[in-house]
Amino acid sequence: RTTFKWLWRATYLSLFLGVGAVIYNGYSDRHPEEQFAPDPEKKTLVILGTGWGSVSLLKKLDTANYNVVVISPRNYFLFTPLLPSCTTGNIEHRSIMEPVRQILRHKKAAVKFYEAEATKIDYERKVIKISDNSDIKGTINETEVPYDMLVIGVGAENATFGIPGVRENSCFLKEIRDAQAIRTKIMDCVETAAFKDQDSSEIDRLLHMVVVGGGPTGVEFAGELRDFFDEDIKKLIPEISPRFKVTLIEALPTVLPMFSKQLIDYTESTFKEEHIEIKTKTMVKKVTDKTVEAQVTNPDGSKSMITIPYGLLVWATGNAVRPLIKDLMSQIPAQKESRRGLAVNEYLVVQGARDIWAVGDCAVAGYAPTAQVAAQEGGFLARLFNNMAKTEALESRIKELSSNLNLKPGNTAEITAEIEGLEKQLRRVQDVKPFNYSHQGSLAYIGSEKAVADIAWLNGNVASGGKLTYLFWRSAYLSMCFSTRNRVLVALDWIKAKLYGRDVSRE
Ligand code: FAD
Ligand code: NAI
Repeated sequence: RTTFKWLWRATYLSLFLGVGAVIYNGYSDRHPEEQFAPDPEKKTLVILGTGWGSVSLLKKLDTANYNVVVISPRNYFLFTPLLPSCTTGNIEHRSIMEPVRQILRHKKAAVKFYEAEATKIDYERKVIKISDNSDIKGTINETEVPYDMLVIGVGAENATFGIPGVRENSCFLKEIRDAQAIRTKIMDCVETAAFKDQDSSEIDRLLHMVVVGGGPTGVEFAGELRDFFDEDIKKLIPEISPRFKVTLIEALPTVLPMFSKQLIDYTESTFKEEHIEIKTKTMVKKVTDKTVEAQVTNPDGSKSMITIPYGLLVWATGNAVRPLIKDLMSQIPAQKESRRGLAVNEYLVVQGARDIWAVGDCAVAGYAPTAQVAAQEGGFLARLFNNMAKTEALESRIKELSSNLNLKPGNTAEITAEIEGLEKQLRRVQDVKPFNYSHQGSLAYIGSEKAVADIAWLNGNVASGGKLTYLFWRSAYLSMCFSTRNRVLVALDWIKAKLYGRDVSRE
């Protein structure tokens, strides 16, 4: 009984503390401290993008040290790991978006934000051309922004490898609008398949959801899609449920090549149970409005072509370099050999350029293009820039004291001691180690409330898959959400979907 009593008390206390934290966070979000205007004498630091790399930099940057300008066509940060859940309405899209103005309002010194796309970086003149590509146009839609220091964190675009028909006919899964388009299209296919007197072969085509790319994006989406069907659509429109089919097409011999062998096997067997067909060694060569044409490598090594009819096609074959980055690379001779993005050194400085750094998917630093890498790179640059500002401040103080020393030769002991102290601090501040990525592990949701995880543990690796890993996946991503507001919204969405089901109304 005593244990029971203590357990209740602990539950009450944690609930009380949790609610208290939510209220406190909400209050401080709505009542930020006064911000001061930055000193115009300070250097202008321009940051391109509001994704994982740039926002992690902004989070830790002391904005009082620079005139910070942020430029991005997206005025919010997007928590991409939960984007596949938005395609089926398991999570509402606004729950994983954090307005960038909200983030910037909490910085010590004010930061300028322009919702615009950088269209050209002129690294010789140190200016960026920007363009307002939103639907509402003012009288000025294009202008230039000069910089002293530039951080490029513009991410990557979807790779299509020039395969005909991909751009015109498939949905991507990178941005919020992609997830919304997929959600609408799933329901459109379902409702059209359920149309009175619908042709039988057309029902099969409309209810065939094809995913190209067996990387984590494709796998997570296929899992979410199957859940949506099994948990909601099947109950609401039972007559079409036996015809619903998900196929995942992958060019390589396995899906999730970055995970350990046992997790690949686990994913493949789970997909089999969930009736998700995996077609490996199958490379899509052409896409039309209703079919996918793919080349299959048969077990004897011979190749044959197959045609697969589809209702919804989601294209998830990884990243390609953005035109802005390609253009900058073509201006810098040292970037000639780089193919997958801006080659950077161990301090994330763009090779061959002055005062330009790059983070995340647009940079080639020898790591996978993941949020984890981008976030650590952004954090590293914040520490680097904070240190650079401290160095400058210390150097100028030392200079000032040294000249005092010359002017007032009688009062040297005190000044010399202060200079020595400052020099010590300076050596500590200047000792910045190169960027070193620390891999925490990989996680992926595979449907049916199961997840796979390769977690870095004591210089080794722990592989796990199943329902418990799914609970770990949920709590890990919930804790990684950008703000308390995001955490609360995501948790409420999960509860809402569990209690009432996903919303199947088509927007
Ligand atoms: P992004 O986060 O893509 O941000 C780029 C920013 O630049 C955006 O704000 C964009 O609007 C802006 N921009 C674009 N063009 C311009 C321009 N011309 N001028 C100015 N700004 C511009 N990684 C993980 O580690 N774990 C996961 O679970 C995970 N899940 C994912 C799920 C999905 C569906 C996807 C698509 C990716 C996932 N990733 C995950 C990968 C991760 O999202 C990326 O590696 C990460 O977003 C890269 O960060 P970034 O800052 O380089 O780019
Ligand atoms: P990816 O590059 O990881 O996988 C794309 C897959 O598409 C590859 O396996 C490739 O062989 C296949 N492919 C390419 N062309 C093809 C074709 N014509 N036909 C058939 N298959 C083809 O891309 P993804 O999944 O979009 O991930 C991008 C990055 O984001 C990766 O670094 C990934 O690790 C990260 N990410 C991480 C997640 C996680 O940790 N849970 C979730 C989503 C993305």
